Amino acid sequence: MESLALLNRNDPQLIRQAGMVEDFSNPEFQTFIDQLIRCGEENEGVGIAAPQVGHSVRLFIMAPRSKDGSPNARYPDAPGMEPTALINPEILRRADTFEKGWEGCLSVPGFRGLVPRHTEIDVAYTTRFGERVEVHFAGFLARLFQHEFDHLEGILFPSRMEPQDPLVSLEEYKALTGIDVKR
Ligand code: NI
Repeated sequence: MESLALLNRNDPQLIRQAGMVEDFSNPEFQTFIDQLIRCGEENEGVGIAAPQVGHSVRLFIMAPRSKDGSPNARYPDAPGMEPTALINPEILRRADTFEKGWEGCLSVPGFRGLVPRHTEIDVAYTTRFGERVEVHFAGFLARLFQHEFDHLEGILFPSRMEPQDPLVSLEEYKALTGIDVKR
């Protein structure tokens, strides 16, 4: 299977709104989903969105665990969940409460930042099999969904941060949290 390449942080494709997926049953799109899942795994991502590899469509993957079921090396507290493709996602309801948490991004390598996110959300999306589903996410998964959804809107996490919170290097992140990450 052909490998996908991650775009550089400054690529203009990362800051534009992605278009709706119209036909997700075609074989090329199904292959692309598998490639995107694999690209996330190769880079130890807990999520990856199509625009991050230069495909401006409303699709992202949530994969908070490594392939072998062990905790993700970059986010050891992530809960278990099979790699899931979310197509044409929508946020139906957002809790009024926010929580700040550390985020990184495969498109912003070498940095972490504290990002406020809604603590709970109700969402809808189409599965890769064409089924429209509604799901409630809280905590880490709510944060992950909001981060990946932002990629479809052309928004990277640093622009969600509050002015008093700086982006930190991985070295500073380790000193602050004790978590040692490579990227
Ligand atoms: Ni990201």
